[in-house]
Amino acid sequence: THVDKGGHKHFMAKEIAEQPAVIGDTLRHYLSAAGGGLTLPQPEMDFTQYDRLTLVACGTAYYACLTAKYWFEQLAGLPVDVDIASEFRYREPPVPARTAAIFVSQSGETADTLAALRYCEGRAAKILSIVNVPESSIARESDLALPIHAGVEIGVASTKAFTCQLTVLLLMALKAASDREAIDPARLSDLLSHLRGLPSTINNTLELNEDFRKAAYQLSSAENALFLGRGMMYPLALEGALKLKEISYIHAEAYASGELKHGPIALIDEKMPVIVMAPRDALFDKTVSNMQEVMARGGKVMLITDAPGAAAASEDTWLTLTLPQVDPILSPILYAIPAQLLAYHTAVAKGTDVDQPRNLAKSVTVE
Ligand code: G6P
Repeated sequence: THVDKGGHKHFMAKEIAEQPAVIGDTLRHYLSAAGGGLTLPQPEMDFTQYDRLTLVACGTAYYACLTAKYWFEQLAGLPVDVDIASEFRYREPPVPARTAAIFVSQSGETADTLAALRYCEGRAAKILSIVNVPESSIARESDLALPIHAGVEIGVASTKAFTCQLTVLLLMALKAASDREAIDPARLSDLLSHLRGLPSTINNTLELNEDFRKAAYQLSSAENALFLGRGMMYPLALEGALKLKEISYIHAEAYASGELKHGPIALIDEKMPVIVMAPRDALFDKTVSNMQEVMARGGKVMLITDAPGAAAASEDTWLTLTLPQVDPILSPILYAIPAQLLAYHTAVAKGTDVDQPRNLAKSVTVE
């Protein structure tokens, strides 16, 4: 099928803009229209059969897995190992009985992820995959393949596939929580109704595009950047740094906020922008104190937060960007949007090739 830019300057911009619609498609595919219940198309998938999960992927899909670890552990009480496919495949990890191994891949063709899947075949694990291409090798070789319904993604830097992967992983975590009776049914239906509202919240976030463009213009003169986040925002900080590196070529690193004092604080000076992803959740005050440590050393803080958090915390920041408020469980999906928009507009400001960044391939089918 031929896919064009639909009036956008780049495929990446188009794919960012498509997210409310495609996440809506993903939700429609996995949730019953009647409200309340979760109707996964695979009723045989029963999370009471597993004692642990192993999530394996590369690149952006790996950060989706890291995020999912927080969801499965917090919501379902199910322990999760997360690994980079190229590490997993050669480490010879034991695969205990009652493990489900989940492989996440946009293309379904990444060589290392496929090799990791094959390693698990015949080793007692149930093999699941979360893919965008249902005919792909990874999908075909799985016991069960769950499609993300993102539609064709052309930009090398993954955007809508990431948020759709997160959506499916969160739905899986909620399914696991429900199967294992680890979640209060009222809380479950509350979260499901928040999820149904997510496309419109993302739409509202995309309307802040101009704010992100201005912030990115300021970021575009930096040589380095540091992303910080705690809890579920830590994988998002990693994804924000990856996006920025991939398409704007600015050197970026991400740290869990609590690790700041164990090394990266030595890098802080007035030339180091520090992007702090901090929704107002249970860890917010701790993140604010990390932020103050940065500002006390002359670091320039770009705070990305939500409305009630912003006022008090943003006094001395370089920039504060305020997103709509969502339930903290959903914030990783929402905070993917600023990560994408910042990278996108920074790359545009620098004039780099957004859709075809140097040295990168959309799908890495050789080792
Ligand atoms: C490449 C792409 C990334 C992607 C990664 C994994 O490095 O540039 O955007 O996240 O491969 O690809 P997959 O198709 O397995 O999700």
